[in-house]
Amino acid sequence: MSTKIFAHRGASKQAPENTMAAFTLAYQHGADGIETDVHLTRDHIPVLIHDEHVKRTTSSTGYIKDFTYRQLQKLDAGSWFSSEFAGLRIIPLDEFLEWIYDKPLYLNIELKNNKIDYNDLESIVYDRILHYDLLHRTILSTFNPRSLNKLNYLNRDINTALLTTKRGKNLVSAAQELGANAVHIKYRLLNQFLVDKCHHEAMGVRVYTVNRPRQMLRCFAVGCDAIFTDVPDRAIRFRNQFTN
Ligand code: G3P
Ligand code: MG
Repeated sequence: MSTKIFAHRGASKQAPENTMAAFTLAYQHGADGIETDVHLTRDHIPVLIHDEHVKRTTSSTGYIKDFTYRQLQKLDAGSWFSSEFAGLRIIPLDEFLEWIYDKPLYLNIELKNNKIDYNDLESIVYDRILHYDLLHRTILSTFNPRSLNKLNYLNRDINTALLTTKRGKNLVSAAQELGANAVHIKYRLLNQFLVDKCHHEAMGVRVYTVNRPRQMLRCFAVGCDAIFTDVPDRAIRFRNQFTN
């Protein structure tokens, strides 16, 4: 099976990350799936943004957890990238799910709970996915092992993945013990032995963030299940060359 291409935060090289513009572009470019990051507002609304803090990607400052959803809606999440995208909003998870519902795309929702402990993040996100009947094409990933336990407790059939930046002999067994179905690894951790070991254990292995052609080709060659890339159009071009 060929390596799937997930647009990392959408087509985030050409449009501001985690906005509808970046998601739409990824879909137009033919990505197989979209990766996005979720946090909770003060009033417990799941919203799509990478950082805990709004400073880097909006017109304001402060932690997501301290804003109400209404307050967040007033921020400009596009201008930092380019004036062409001025006025884009931070979107709620629901808007994304509503948009993706009728498109043939996989979803990887990364629960951003490794720095801030959003107590109910797992159950809130799970509930929204069920509401849109998207469980069969959703992967929930996290750097937080406790979060994987919580997801398992909610439903053992959720497709989950342990994110890691660290090399470790026991990565595969640790992920298995946490009930994860896959590991999502940083590119520098990639090697053929790890891919084979994962597949031998019926675990998926997906790699981030893969933007260079040489890295893409290596991921395809060793048989990664998916890559996360800021440039899905480039990845699709190289995958076509690789498979033909
Ligand atoms: O989910 C893959 C990747 O997005 C994890 O790291 O920091 O880009 O969210 P980060
Ligand atoms: Mg992410």
